[in-house]
Amino acid sequence: TPPSLLLSLTLPFLNFFSPLSTTLPSLCRYPLGMSGGQIQDEDISASSQWSESTAARYGRLDFEEGDGAWCPETVEPDSLKEFLQIDLRSLHFITLVGTQGRHAGGIGNEFAQMYKIKYSRDGSRWISWRNRQGKQVIEGNRNAYDIVLKDLEPPIIARFVRFMPVSDHSMNVCMRVELYGCEWLDGLVSYNAPVGEQMSLEGESVHLNDSVYDGAVIFSMTEGLGQLTDGMCGLDDFTQSHVYNVWPGYDYVGWTNESFSSGYVEIMFEFDRARNFTTMKVHCNNMFTRHVKAFRQVMCYFRSEADWEAKPLSFSPSPDDVNPSARFVTVSLANHMASAIKCQFYFADTWMMFSEITFQSGDHVPWSLSWDDPTHKVDDSNTRILIGCLVAIIFILVAIIVIILWRQVWQKMLEKVGELVYSRACTHTHTHTHTCSFDRVTPRSGVSPHSSVLDSRLRLTNAAVAATASKAPAATVGQDGVPHYAEADIVNLQGVTGGNTYAVPALTMDLLSGKDVAVEEFPRKLLTFKEKLGEGQFGEVHLCEAEGMQEFMNKDFPFDITENQPELVAVKMLRADANKNARNDFLKEIKIMSRLKDPNIIRLLAVCICSDPLCMITEYMENGDLNQFLCRHEPEGQLALISNAPTVSYSNLCYMATQIASGMRYLSSLNFVHRDLATRNCLVGKNYTIKIADFGMSRNLYSGDYYRIQGRAVLPIRWMSWESILLGKFTTASDVWAFGVTLWETLTFCKEQPYSQLTDEQVIENTGEFFRDQKRQIYLPQPALCPDPVYKIMLSCWRRNTKERPSFQEIYRALLESQA
Ligand SMILES: *[C@@H]1O[C@H](CO)[C@@H](O)[C@H](O)[C@H]1NC(C)=O
Ligand SMILES: *[C@@H]1O[C@H](CO)[C@@H](O)[C@H](O)[C@H]1NC(C)=O
Ligand SMILES: *[C@@H]1O[C@H](CO)[C@@H](O)[C@H](O)[C@H]1NC(C)=O
Repeated sequence: TPPSLLLSLTLPFLNFFSPLSTTLPSLCRYPLGMSGGQIQDEDISASSQWSESTAARYGRLDFEEGDGAWCPETVEPDSLKEFLQIDLRSLHFITLVGTQGRHAGGIGNEFAQMYKIKYSRDGSRWISWRNRQGKQVIEGNRNAYDIVLKDLEPPIIARFVRFMPVSDHSMNVCMRVELYGCEWLDGLVSYNAPVGEQMSLEGESVHLNDSVYDGAVIFSMTEGLGQLTDGMCGLDDFTQSHVYNVWPGYDYVGWTNESFSSGYVEIMFEFDRARNFTTMKVHCNNMFTRHVKAFRQVMCYFRSEADWEAKPLSFSPSPDDVNPSARFVTVSLANHMASAIKCQFYFADTWMMFSEITFQSGDHVPWSLSWDDPTHKVDDSNTRILIGCLVAIIFILVAIIVIILWRQVWQKMLEKVGELVYSRACTHTHTHTHTCSFDRVTPRSGVSPHSSVLDSRLRLTNAAVAATASKAPAATVGQDGVPHYAEADIVNLQGVTGGNTYAVPALTMDLLSGKDVAVEEFPRKLLTFKEKLGEGQFGEVHLCEAEGMQEFMNKDFPFDITENQPELVAVKMLRADANKNARNDFLKEIKIMSRLKDPNIIRLLAVCICSDPLCMITEYMENGDLNQFLCRHEPEGQLALISNAPTVSYSNLCYMATQIASGMRYLSSLNFVHRDLATRNCLVGKNYTIKIADFGMSRNLYSGDYYRIQGRAVLPIRWMSWESILLGKFTTASDVWAFGVTLWETLTFCKEQPYSQLTDEQVIENTGEFFRDQKRQIYLPQPALCPDPVYKIMLSCWRRNTKERPSFQEIYRALLESQA
């Protein structure tokens, strides 16, 4: 896997100019074995699993085993109940995490948009990770296949790590993850120290607290690790920081001699086991002009078993009043065996400030320390540093050139791959480019050149992953930034109102657009506004009267109009300020609509595209939509007689349903997928004639029928098949499902919403039951009016297996037969 490969290539020279710390976060970025398999299945566990095939062990980044990822039971909003836990068996320094959703060769479409991380060193005390600004939530994936890497700033030192998907509504989430870092050779489990203090400097406060300490902080800090082990060394000027947007003094933990009458600060270090210590390195500030100096003396006590050794080890570095640079002071620990060390650091001046403390023990001599510490011998090594710097600069230049060349070559290759993969899908407006997200949790200034080498390398690999993964269904992104579920070779049309119109296979689309638009321009002034039918982000739908529409009609159009009477039409209007994409879509929708010719599909009558705003004039039917129509009516019978309400006979209901089936039969013959079939989208004309339209989503009246997924599509979940909700698959078979629901609505006279007793979340949960198919799914009940054979048709529309659902042709026939 990429980071480690590159590391091994670049380590020798990187090492040369960055001997600052044992564990440089920028170098310690090896994948820890989720994708590589070094982490065993039994070390991966989870709070729950959706099914056996989505168990914790399938949560490995870039793996496609099982059903393609770990998926817990439904993730509830604000509950952090679900987690995927990894036991690394020993302490690790973790600098980077990677996440990915469930792709499963194109049928998966679940991913965690947000997650949190918890970690533990001992398996009992769990700590919530926060970034340097205190934020816990990490932004996760935006699609099911791209790997998203996040730097952990600050890094984590832990043995156990939990990924906890977060959601603001209940939903299905799947994750694949990887941890990057290296083994924590220091073995340090915690340090206990007095709380860092506040210095006032020229009227400004310098906060020298340990802001990322993960233990308890009351009068002193206990049981935690923090800034002294975060791999980040402070700058010479302690008021400045590497870290963006933090307070002065951020990198240091500091104390003043005013608070320590004993003259020293005691810090106790506890380790995972007894170790044979060689050295301790303390990174100290030495800005003596501000009364800050490295310690004058240190006394260390060792505890190997239960007792502290009586005799301390003492060390006094030579005082330095010349060089104000921050430096590592190396203290020899003379091969003492210990599992705990207690050191008393004596003040040399009013202030003492540390930013990093590292330990070296036994056979573990970390590679980064096998080099001499130039900062330690500042006085006599200026020439060496100069030469070192020159060599380093040469290396950097060479590296940069190599990277630039490399990137160019890679990019060319990737473009080629991309072109191949997208050549089919990319000819239309809503193409989706797979961008790799390599978002830093916090921007890091003072980035050393090697980390950018890594970054670009990671970026490339991810792009490659994305490019090869792109046989995938691509979630297309609408102009509103809201992705709509769509399949790769489907052109997703975004109607004026922001709702989906029809999803058209790209192929069909090409055939259609070969010819000219077969509708005529209509003089705008002949339209009289009557009523607003709906409104959306990109425009409005008006009910208008059109004068002399007959003349604009095609001869093949059987239009039952009374001469010289204005015709009722629906006018879809694009806002004049709509963006170019919306305009293109609008024109495309016109093209498609103009080709749809069926007695049960709303016809496009004319257009106004010579001037703004662009308009599309379609039929409107005098009785409005089927939902409202049926609501106003009652079934024939005693009740209707008493209430004197208008009625619709069962045979007329059936007649209407049959027409819907017939219209859908026509659409499906063209491979058009409607995606929003419902009674609200069927219009009723004279004598119970029905035409299928598509303005449902734009009307406030029906907003309750749609479920807005945060930052995602607005979805009519109560009409959607399980695979549309869970996998984002919209096909004719899912239209068939929606037809079943539409039929149910019709036979219940639209008196209630489908599954009215369930909340939106429960509807989604029920969808999960359809997927699991353990006979726990709830079906819509048989309406009172509905004979058994017709209910059988409904049930067949809701079969789990899409192939077992009937075609519209079959439904149409069955409905005809049921009336015979
Ligand atoms: C450290 O000090 C800063 C600045 O006052 C404060 O915002 C932060 O919460 C403190 N952190 C801790 C862990 O006390
Ligand atoms: C610690 O390591 C040194 C050098 O490897 C060895 O000489 C010494 O005996 C070790 N000490 C203990 C107590 O094992
Ligand atoms: C703190 O250190 C300064 C500088 O060495 C010294 O002048 C001062 O007396 C010390 N204060 C205390 C309380 O020890």
